[in-house]
Amino acid sequence: MSKVRSKEWVKCTVIVCILLFLKTEGLEEVGITIIESGVAKGAVCLDGSPPAYQLAKGFGDGVNNWLVHIQGGGWCNTVEDCVYRKTMDNGLGSSKLMPMLNFTGILSNEQEQNPNFYNWNRVIMRYCDGSSFTGDVEEVDPATNLYFRGARVFNVIIEELMSKGMNDAQNALLSGCSAGGLASILHCDKFKGFFPSSTRVKCIADAGYFAHVKDLSGEYRFEKYYNDVVTLHGSAKYLPSGCTSNMTPGLCFYPQFVVPYIKTPIFILNSAYDTWQVYYILSSNEADPQGNFTKCKMDLNECSTPQLQRFQDFRSDFLYSVSAIGNDSSNGMFINTCYTHCQSEFQPAWSGNDASKLDYKTISEGVGDWFYEKSEFRKIDDEHKLPHYC
Ligand SMILES: *[C@@H]1O[C@H](CO)[C@@H](O)[C@H](O)[C@H]1NC(C)=O
Ligand SMILES: *[C@@H]1O[C@H](CO)[C@@H](O)[C@H](O)[C@H]1NC(C)=O
Repeated sequence: MSKVRSKEWVKCTVIVCILLFLKTEGLEEVGITIIESGVAKGAVCLDGSPPAYQLAKGFGDGVNNWLVHIQGGGWCNTVEDCVYRKTMDNGLGSSKLMPMLNFTGILSNEQEQNPNFYNWNRVIMRYCDGSSFTGDVEEVDPATNLYFRGARVFNVIIEELMSKGMNDAQNALLSGCSAGGLASILHCDKFKGFFPSSTRVKCIADAGYFAHVKDLSGEYRFEKYYNDVVTLHGSAKYLPSGCTSNMTPGLCFYPQFVVPYIKTPIFILNSAYDTWQVYYILSSNEADPQGNFTKCKMDLNECSTPQLQRFQDFRSDFLYSVSAIGNDSSNGMFINTCYTHCQSEFQPAWSGNDASKLDYKTISEGVGDWFYEKSEFRKIDDEHKLPHYC
């Protein structure tokens, strides 16, 4: 009798230890699903490999809610650049090379860390086309074997999720970070169109609000880069038509020219001092050929007074670009001044004790208030006027 009991005790102790271990590690392992059938539809990554996603099943009262989070990772704007991307070992051009991504921040299954979405069905739409899922070119040049089919990949992944239960969703949120945040804006109304009108559908763009602003040379040099992406990938027909009927398709890759036409509620989460934009828009190599801004952008403590003034002008330009989303309270925003890029995937920024707060709310709380319409949430940090490390 006592022997059995002690065996049980050992068993229980082992289980408790494993649970404790999992709790402290806190990381859910979510395998990659490959959609082989996408190939027959021509929905493929840059290298011709099939689309992929990671799905963590919902549970409890979250089983009928879906979060689709679009992975980021820049773009490719030339054939050469896209050929290189096919081979990158982060899998941004091929589902044959994709490492598993971790579910943290907005994707976490921990209630304390992610109270609004922890038990939803949570998906990472894996990025492998280099065009924020907008490309669609039928021809494939046999010399390079490059496929520009991002828009088809987006559709095939959404259709697959629909067949896995997303068609019955009560709540659905399209999110994404960086190039994925931009994709969330560009595809927001299209995503909404997949659902019946009874589903609450919204979109959030994290660090995806790439602003059309003057760079250090006083020009809009980044415009050419977006124009090249859109031209190479044949994106024009998948960009919001309200915009493309009014201006060149390259400009319709900029959120500020597209958001006035988006009907679905959208939340802009961005730093006014997004590091990516500071590096590649404000002070790109073309905009700052002498590298006068390099030391300052790499370490804010090295910035001179005129450089800090230039930063503030950038912030003003950025805030002006954000005003394009208008005053409708169905749209939300959390615009802080942390010198960073992507805050929803990064646990300490999303809801940690030291997370940035606006009006006493973390990003997680602000997004929750907006999504569930507990209150409107449109906050811009007016307290810190300078970029700072958070
Ligand atoms: C996922 O998390 C593990 C454990 O913290 C880490 O070792 C790994 O590098 C992470 N993977 C990615 C792709 O970030
Ligand atoms: C939004 O409201 C502000 C202040 O009330 C106003 O100055 C601005 O013109 C409004 N913007 C739009 C797009 O209606």
